[in-house]
Amino acid sequence: MRARLPGIVVRETRPVDFPQIIAVGHVVYPESPPWTPEQLTSHLRVFPEGQFVAIEESTGLILGMAASLVVCWDDYDLTTHWRDFTDNGMFTNHDPERGRTLYGAEIMVHAVAQRRGIGTKLYKARRQLVERLGLLRIRAGARLRGYSRYAHRFSAEEYVVKVVNGELRGPTLSFQLKHGFHVLGVVPGYLRHDPESLGYAAVIEWINEAIAKPEDYAGRDRRFDRRIDLEPTASSA
Ligand SMILES: CC(C)(COP(=O)(O)OP(=O)(O)OC[C@H]1O[C@@H](n2cnc3c(N)ncnc32)[C@H](O)[C@@H]1OP(=O)(O)O)[C@@H](O)C(=O)NCCC(=O)NCCS
Repeated sequence: MRARLPGIVVRETRPVDFPQIIAVGHVVYPESPPWTPEQLTSHLRVFPEGQFVAIEESTGLILGMAASLVVCWDDYDLTTHWRDFTDNGMFTNHDPERGRTLYGAEIMVHAVAQRRGIGTKLYKARRQLVERLGLLRIRAGARLRGYSRYAHRFSAEEYVVKVVNGELRGPTLSFQLKHGFHVLGVVPGYLRHDPESLGYAAVIEWINEAIAKPEDYAGRDRRFDRRIDLEPTASSA
Protein backbone atom coordinates (compact mmCIF):
# COMPACT_ATOMS: atom_id res chain seq x y z
CA MET A 1 0.00 0.00 0.00
CA ARG A 2 1.36 3.47 -0.85
CA ALA A 3 1.04 6.32 1.65
CA ARG A 4 -2.22 8.26 1.35
CA LEU A 5 -1.71 11.78 -0.04
CA PRO A 6 -2.66 14.37 2.61
CA GLY A 7 -4.55 17.58 1.89
CA ILE A 8 -6.72 16.29 -0.96
CA VAL A 9 -10.17 17.83 -1.19
CA VAL A 10 -13.01 16.78 -3.46
CA ARG A 11 -15.42 19.43 -4.71
CA GLU A 12 -17.78 19.99 -7.61
CA THR A 13 -16.09 20.81 -10.90
CA ARG A 14 -15.93 24.43 -12.14
CA PRO A 15 -15.19 25.79 -15.64
CA VAL A 16 -11.80 27.04 -14.43
CA ASP A 17 -10.82 23.37 -13.87
CA PHE A 18 -11.26 22.31 -17.52
CA PRO A 19 -7.64 22.84 -18.74
CA GLN A 20 -6.27 20.79 -15.84
CA ILE A 21 -8.87 18.02 -16.30
CA ILE A 22 -7.96 17.80 -19.98
CA ALA A 23 -4.26 17.67 -19.07
CA VAL A 24 -4.88 14.78 -16.64
CA GLY A 25 -6.77 12.97 -19.41
CA HIS A 26 -3.76 13.25 -21.71
CA VAL A 27 -1.57 11.57 -19.09
CA VAL A 28 -4.03 8.81 -18.15
CA TYR A 29 -5.21 7.98 -21.70
CA PRO A 30 -2.34 9.03 -24.01
CA GLU A 31 -3.72 7.00 -26.96
CA SER A 32 -7.09 8.77 -27.00
CA PRO A 33 -7.39 11.60 -24.49
CA PRO A 34 -11.02 11.99 -23.34
CA TRP A 35 -13.05 15.14 -22.70
CA THR A 36 -13.21 18.34 -24.65
CA PRO A 37 -14.16 21.77 -23.26
CA GLU A 38 -17.54 21.39 -25.05
CA GLN A 39 -18.28 18.10 -23.28
CA LEU A 40 -17.17 19.38 -19.86
CA THR A 41 -19.30 22.52 -20.35
CA SER A 42 -22.28 20.36 -21.21
CA HIS A 43 -21.78 18.23 -18.03
CA LEU A 44 -21.94 21.35 -15.86
CA ARG A 45 -25.00 22.59 -17.71
CA VAL A 46 -27.04 19.39 -17.32
CA PHE A 47 -25.82 17.98 -13.97
CA PRO A 48 -23.31 20.11 -12.04
CA GLU A 49 -23.77 18.08 -8.81
CA GLY A 50 -22.52 14.95 -10.58
CA GLN A 51 -19.09 16.29 -11.56
CA PHE A 52 -16.18 16.17 -9.12
CA VAL A 53 -12.50 17.04 -9.04
CA ALA A 54 -9.89 16.03 -6.46
CA ILE A 55 -7.47 18.85 -5.72
CA GLU A 56 -4.24 19.08 -3.79
CA GLU A 57 -5.16 21.94 -1.49
CA SER A 58 -1.68 23.38 -1.03
CA THR A 59 -0.94 23.71 -4.77
CA GLY A 60 -4.38 23.86 -6.41
CA LEU A 61 -3.35 20.97 -8.67
CA ILE A 62 -6.15 18.77 -9.97
CA LEU A 63 -5.10 15.15 -9.50
CA GLY A 64 -8.34 13.35 -10.32
CA MET A 65 -11.89 13.72 -11.57
CA ALA A 66 -15.17 11.81 -11.71
CA ALA A 67 -18.04 12.51 -14.09
CA SER A 68 -21.54 11.05 -13.92
CA LEU A 69 -25.14 11.45 -15.02
CA VAL A 70 -28.50 9.96 -14.04
CA VAL A 71 -30.07 7.48 -16.45
CA CYS A 72 -33.27 5.47 -16.62
CA TRP A 73 -31.86 1.95 -16.97
CA ASP A 74 -34.95 0.70 -18.84
CA ASP A 75 -33.76 2.78 -21.81
CA TYR A 76 -30.49 0.79 -21.99
CA ASP A 77 -29.14 -2.68 -21.32
CA LEU A 78 -25.89 -4.33 -20.35
CA THR A 79 -24.56 -4.30 -23.91
CA THR A 80 -25.12 -0.58 -24.50
CA HIS A 81 -21.90 1.20 -25.45
CA TRP A 82 -20.28 3.96 -23.45
CA ARG A 83 -21.04 6.52 -26.17
CA ASP A 84 -24.77 5.77 -25.95
CA PHE A 85 -24.83 5.84 -22.14
CA THR A 86 -23.24 9.30 -22.31
CA ASP A 87 -24.71 10.68 -25.54
CA ASN A 88 -21.24 10.82 -27.06
CA GLY A 89 -19.79 12.23 -23.87
CA MET A 90 -22.22 15.18 -23.71
CA PHE A 91 -24.54 13.77 -20.96
CA THR A 92 -27.56 15.35 -22.71
CA ASN A 93 -29.42 12.08 -22.00
CA HIS A 94 -29.26 12.94 -18.26
CA ASP A 95 -32.74 12.00 -16.99
CA PRO A 96 -33.33 13.05 -13.37
CA GLU A 97 -37.13 12.78 -13.72
CA ARG A 98 -37.24 9.08 -14.56
CA GLY A 99 -33.75 7.85 -13.67
CA ARG A 100 -32.74 6.03 -10.48
CA THR A 101 -29.27 5.00 -11.64
CA LEU A 102 -26.15 7.15 -11.38
CA TYR A 103 -24.06 6.21 -14.38
CA GLY A 104 -20.33 6.57 -13.77
CA ALA A 105 -19.00 7.85 -17.07
CA GLU A 106 -15.45 8.57 -15.91
CA ILE A 107 -13.15 8.32 -12.98
CA MET A 108 -9.46 9.00 -13.45
CA VAL A 109 -6.50 9.86 -11.27
CA HIS A 110 -3.25 11.37 -12.53
CA ALA A 111 -0.65 8.63 -13.11
CA VAL A 112 1.77 10.12 -10.55
CA ALA A 113 -0.91 10.09 -7.84
CA GLN A 114 -2.55 6.66 -8.32
CA ARG A 115 -2.76 4.17 -5.42
CA ARG A 116 -2.71 7.02 -2.89
CA GLY A 117 -6.37 7.15 -1.94
CA ILE A 118 -7.68 9.76 -4.39
CA GLY A 119 -9.96 7.38 -6.31
CA THR A 120 -11.38 6.26 -2.97
CA LYS A 121 -12.27 9.87 -2.10
CA LEU A 122 -13.92 10.42 -5.48
CA TYR A 123 -16.01 7.27 -5.01
CA LYS A 124 -17.04 8.35 -1.55
CA ALA A 125 -18.31 11.64 -3.02
CA ARG A 126 -20.28 9.67 -5.62
CA ARG A 127 -21.88 7.38 -3.04
CA GLN A 128 -22.82 10.38 -0.89
CA LEU A 129 -24.41 11.99 -3.96
CA VAL A 130 -26.48 8.85 -4.63
CA GLU A 131 -27.63 8.78 -1.01
CA ARG A 132 -28.42 12.49 -1.00
CA LEU A 133 -30.46 12.27 -4.22
CA GLY A 134 -32.19 9.06 -3.07
CA LEU A 135 -30.98 7.12 -6.10
CA LEU A 136 -31.04 3.32 -6.13
CA ARG A 137 -27.56 2.55 -7.44
CA ILE A 138 -24.40 3.36 -9.32
CA ARG A 139 -23.68 1.46 -12.51
CA ALA A 140 -20.64 1.80 -14.75
CA GLY A 141 -18.49 0.00 -17.25
CA ALA A 142 -15.13 -0.93 -15.75
CA ARG A 143 -12.81 -1.29 -18.70
CA LEU A 144 -10.77 -4.46 -18.36
CA ARG A 145 -7.34 -2.86 -18.33
CA GLY A 146 -4.88 -5.67 -18.08
CA TYR A 147 -7.01 -8.16 -20.05
CA SER A 148 -4.82 -7.84 -23.15
CA ARG A 149 -2.01 -9.56 -21.22
CA TYR A 150 -4.24 -12.60 -20.57
CA ALA A 151 -6.35 -12.70 -23.74
CA HIS A 152 -4.31 -15.60 -25.17
CA ARG A 153 -5.14 -17.69 -22.07
CA PHE A 154 -8.62 -16.74 -20.91
CA SER A 155 -11.90 -15.42 -22.27
CA ALA A 156 -12.86 -12.00 -20.89
CA GLU A 157 -15.45 -13.69 -18.60
CA GLU A 158 -12.84 -16.12 -17.24
CA TYR A 159 -10.48 -13.22 -16.62
CA VAL A 160 -13.18 -11.34 -14.66
CA VAL A 161 -14.00 -14.41 -12.54
CA LYS A 162 -10.30 -14.63 -11.62
CA VAL A 163 -10.13 -10.94 -10.71
CA VAL A 164 -13.34 -11.22 -8.64
CA ASN A 165 -11.80 -14.11 -6.70
CA GLY A 166 -8.48 -12.36 -6.19
CA GLU A 167 -6.49 -14.82 -8.36
CA LEU A 168 -5.53 -11.93 -10.68
CA ARG A 169 -5.39 -8.22 -9.97
CA GLY A 170 -7.18 -6.00 -12.47
CA PRO A 171 -5.83 -2.44 -12.51
CA THR A 172 -9.32 -0.92 -12.60
CA LEU A 173 -11.71 -3.72 -11.63
CA SER A 174 -9.88 -4.59 -8.38
CA PHE A 175 -10.37 -0.96 -7.34
CA GLN A 176 -14.10 -1.04 -8.12
CA LEU A 177 -14.60 -4.37 -6.33
CA LYS A 178 -12.85 -3.01 -3.26
CA HIS A 179 -15.47 -0.27 -3.23
CA GLY A 180 -18.38 -2.69 -2.92
CA PHE A 181 -19.18 -3.09 -6.62
CA HIS A 182 -20.54 -6.34 -8.03
CA VAL A 183 -20.04 -7.52 -11.63
CA LEU A 184 -23.29 -7.81 -13.62
CA GLY A 185 -21.78 -8.90 -16.92
CA VAL A 186 -18.92 -8.62 -19.39
CA VAL A 187 -19.37 -6.77 -22.68
CA PRO A 188 -17.22 -6.42 -25.82
CA GLY A 189 -16.82 -3.26 -27.87
CA TYR A 190 -17.51 -0.99 -24.89
CA LEU A 191 -14.70 1.47 -25.63
CA ARG A 192 -13.06 1.87 -28.99
CA HIS A 193 -9.29 2.42 -29.28
CA ASP A 194 -8.46 0.84 -25.92
CA PRO A 195 -5.55 -1.57 -26.46
CA GLU A 196 -5.27 -2.48 -22.75
CA SER A 197 -8.82 -3.85 -22.52
CA LEU A 198 -9.27 -4.84 -26.19
CA GLY A 199 -12.59 -3.02 -25.83
CA TYR A 200 -13.94 -5.30 -23.06
CA ALA A 201 -15.58 -3.92 -19.93
CA ALA A 202 -17.28 -5.36 -16.87
CA VAL A 203 -20.63 -3.76 -16.17
CA ILE A 204 -20.58 -3.13 -12.44
CA GLU A 205 -23.07 -2.05 -9.80
CA TRP A 206 -23.10 -0.59 -6.30
CA ILE A 207 -26.50 -0.69 -4.62
CA ASN A 208 -27.82 1.88 -2.16
CA GLU A 209 -28.76 -0.66 0.51
CA ALA A 210 -30.78 1.91 2.46
CA ILE A 211 -33.54 1.85 -0.17
CA ALA A 212 -32.92 -1.32 -2.24
CA LYS A 213 -35.59 -4.04 -2.30
CA PRO A 214 -34.91 -7.78 -2.79
CA GLU A 215 -35.95 -7.55 -6.47
CA ASP A 216 -33.20 -4.99 -7.07
CA TYR A 217 -30.65 -7.77 -6.51
CA ALA A 218 -32.53 -10.33 -8.64
CA GLY A 219 -31.23 -11.82 -11.88
CA ARG A 220 -27.55 -11.43 -11.08
CA ASP A 221 -25.15 -13.68 -12.97
CA ARG A 222 -23.89 -15.96 -10.18
CA ARG A 223 -20.67 -16.68 -12.09
CA PHE A 224 -19.43 -13.28 -10.91
CA ASP A 225 -20.15 -13.86 -7.21
CA ARG A 226 -17.02 -14.00 -5.11
CA ARG A 227 -16.35 -17.65 -4.09
CA ILE A 228 -15.57 -18.02 -0.42
CA ASP A 229 -12.86 -20.60 0.03
CA LEU A 230 -13.06 -21.81 3.59
CA GLU A 231 -9.74 -22.54 5.25
CA PRO A 232 -9.68 -26.06 6.71
CA THR A 233 -10.03 -25.85 10.46
CA ALA A 234 -7.77 -27.70 12.89
CA SER A 235 -10.56 -30.14 13.73
CA SER A 236 -11.29 -30.97 10.09
CA ALA A 237 -7.62 -31.42 9.16
C1 LIG B 1 -8.88 3.27 -11.19
C2 LIG B 1 -8.35 4.54 -10.53
C3 LIG B 1 -9.39 5.65 -10.71
C4 LIG B 1 -8.17 4.26 -9.03
O1 LIG B 1 -7.79 5.48 -8.38
P1 LIG B 1 -6.63 5.47 -7.27
O2 LIG B 1 -6.54 6.82 -6.69
O3 LIG B 1 -5.41 4.89 -7.87
O4 LIG B 1 -7.25 4.44 -6.21
P2 LIG B 1 -6.97 4.34 -4.65
O5 LIG B 1 -5.58 4.77 -4.32
O6 LIG B 1 -8.07 5.02 -3.93
O7 LIG B 1 -7.05 2.76 -4.48
C5 LIG B 1 -7.92 2.08 -3.61
C6 LIG B 1 -7.73 0.58 -3.78
O8 LIG B 1 -8.10 0.15 -5.07
C7 LIG B 1 -7.23 -0.90 -5.49
N1 LIG B 1 -6.44 -0.46 -6.65
C8 LIG B 1 -6.27 0.81 -7.10
N2 LIG B 1 -5.49 0.81 -8.19
C9 LIG B 1 -5.15 -0.49 -8.41
C10 LIG B 1 -4.34 -1.14 -9.37
N3 LIG B 1 -3.69 -0.45 -10.34
N4 LIG B 1 -4.22 -2.48 -9.33
C11 LIG B 1 -4.85 -3.19 -8.36
N5 LIG B 1 -5.63 -2.63 -7.40
C12 LIG B 1 -5.77 -1.30 -7.43
C13 LIG B 1 -6.31 -1.18 -4.34
O9 LIG B 1 -6.89 -2.20 -3.56
C14 LIG B 1 -6.28 0.13 -3.62
O10 LIG B 1 -6.00 0.01 -2.26
P3 LIG B 1 -4.45 -0.16 -1.76
O11 LIG B 1 -3.63 0.87 -2.49
O12 LIG B 1 -4.58 0.08 -0.32
O13 LIG B 1 -4.09 -1.57 -2.12
C15 LIG B 1 -6.98 4.97 -11.11
O14 LIG B 1 -6.08 3.92 -10.98
C16 LIG B 1 -7.02 5.42 -12.56
O15 LIG B 1 -7.20 6.60 -12.86
N6 LIG B 1 -6.84 4.50 -13.52
C17 LIG B 1 -6.77 4.86 -14.93
C18 LIG B 1 -8.11 5.32 -15.47
C19 LIG B 1 -9.16 4.24 -15.38
O16 LIG B 1 -8.96 3.11 -15.75
N7 LIG B 1 -10.33 4.65 -14.87
C20 LIG B 1 -11.47 3.79 -14.76
C21 LIG B 1 -12.24 3.85 -16.04
S1 LIG B 1 -13.42 2.49 -16.12
